[in-house]
Amino acid sequence: MSPPAADQPARDPFVPDERVEALLIATPPGWEEVALGNLHATMSDHAHAEKKAALSALSLLNANPARDELVYKMGKLAREEIRHLDQVIGHMRRRGWSLLADRPDRFAGALLSERRGGGAEGLCDRLLVAALIEARSWERLNLLGRALRSAGDVELGEFYGELARSEAGHYRVFVELADAECPGVDVHGRLSELAQVEAGVIADLPHEPRIH
Ligand SMILES: [Fe+2]
Ligand SMILES: [Fe+2]
Repeated sequence: MSPPAADQPARDPFVPDERVEALLIATPPGWEEVALGNLHATMSDHAHAEKKAALSALSLLNANPARDELVYKMGKLAREEIRHLDQVIGHMRRRGWSLLADRPDRFAGALLSERRGGGAEGLCDRLLVAALIEARSWERLNLLGRALRSAGDVELGEFYGELARSEAGHYRVFVELADAECPGVDVHGRLSELAQVEAGVIADLPHEPRIH
């Protein structure tokens, strides 16, 4: 890992927000530069990520109709993710940028492949994988927001900072739901295992103009 170039401000040390304590490592240095280098591609990927978050919330709701708390929270979450999608597309339109085709997501694919089958363990894993995707989105959107503010795009930078805080809140929603909906499962032991996998995937992921 190379040190930051002399003219680049040093990054803050990685201190996971207490709301996303499961993240074990920071994104390796250099991702922000790649993301800003093709902001159109990054924002398009981000729009697709918000779309997939909304679809995933609705899919969880659909699969668990009798779980009242889950249905309530996933309905609210889907609405919020759709709002984020609408906001990102609005920012893209102001720049004259179209949505690009969605591309396979290695990060999410690697985590989703770790999920166990049905029952309480299956639901627990589904909720915890969603939690970790939200947690990494928090970190990446936060990094992007800071990079944009440093580059002088204060409005878009503030937007990304605000979105990052919202994704940290979503992480908590999923962990709390796993605690409430999966009695008899070692939720926090499993979260630690999945967080190790997540850290391995992030360490190996090439830097690309995408959120993860
Ligand atoms: Fe979102
Ligand atoms: Fe989210």
